[in-house]
Amino acid sequence: MVVTHRGAQAVGRCLEFGCGTGHLTRALVDRLSIADLALNDLVGDCEPHVMARLPAGQRARFHAGPVERLDPEGTFDLIASASVVQWIPDHRCLLRDLSNRLEPGGWIALSGFGQDQFGELQALGSSASAPGYRNAGDWAAMVPQGMALMATRQIQTRMYFPTVRAVLRHLRETGVNGNAQGGWSRARLQKFEQDYDAQFGTAQGLPLTYDAVWMLARKI
Ligand SMILES: C[S@@+](CC[C@H](N)C(=O)[O-])C[C@H]1O[C@@H](n2cnc3c(N)ncnc32)[C@H](O)[C@@H]1O
Repeated sequence: MVVTHRGAQAVGRCLEFGCGTGHLTRALVDRLSIADLALNDLVGDCEPHVMARLPAGQRARFHAGPVERLDPEGTFDLIASASVVQWIPDHRCLLRDLSNRLEPGGWIALSGFGQDQFGELQALGSSASAPGYRNAGDWAAMVPQGMALMATRQIQTRMYFPTVRAVLRHLRETGVNGNAQGGWSRARLQKFEQDYDAQFGTAQGLPLTYDAVWMLARKI
């Protein structure tokens, strides 16, 4: 989306927050020439993993800590993030803050998840959830004055699993929600398994819905 709407011209300074082990980082450096890359994640241990994904000669620095309290020097031409904003409850405040760190004409590119994320778990009353699920159509109201929403996208996909335990293992292993099974008694887990099967079981297996959302905004 960044390349489609912004174009593939070189980027001066780019900030990626919540870079994790660098899936989006790699996609960015593969598609764009970035003179100076500031990388951030809450978890400092991500640094060696993300740095290992960079091509030789890529200028980059890593800053550990929550993006809400990050204070990298200067302003950016592109601020990007994948699968992080669902953990940040106040998107209006986040975008205002990010906008202040953008050069005029600079871009913000974010992905997160919509209201139907893990719809099956929500319907079963599971606490496996994040505070910031937001549909594509709701991002316009989050964009501060001085920025224009350029594009959004929302795509639901379903994964299928043979058992409820496999669903829970998937959640734990992806780190999407480490609490999904936390502290459950045997009886509670059994009831959850029965309800999941009864309400959502299909010939393909048990579905788990991912509701991915992307947004792209530009500072005027
Ligand atoms: C689902 S992972 C996504 C990682 C990477 N962006 C990717 O697409 O592979 C979410 C990442 O966001 C980080 N994170 C969560 N809250 C954050 C915050 N407030 N500030 C910075 N990073 C945060 C987590 O540590 C984790 O690495």
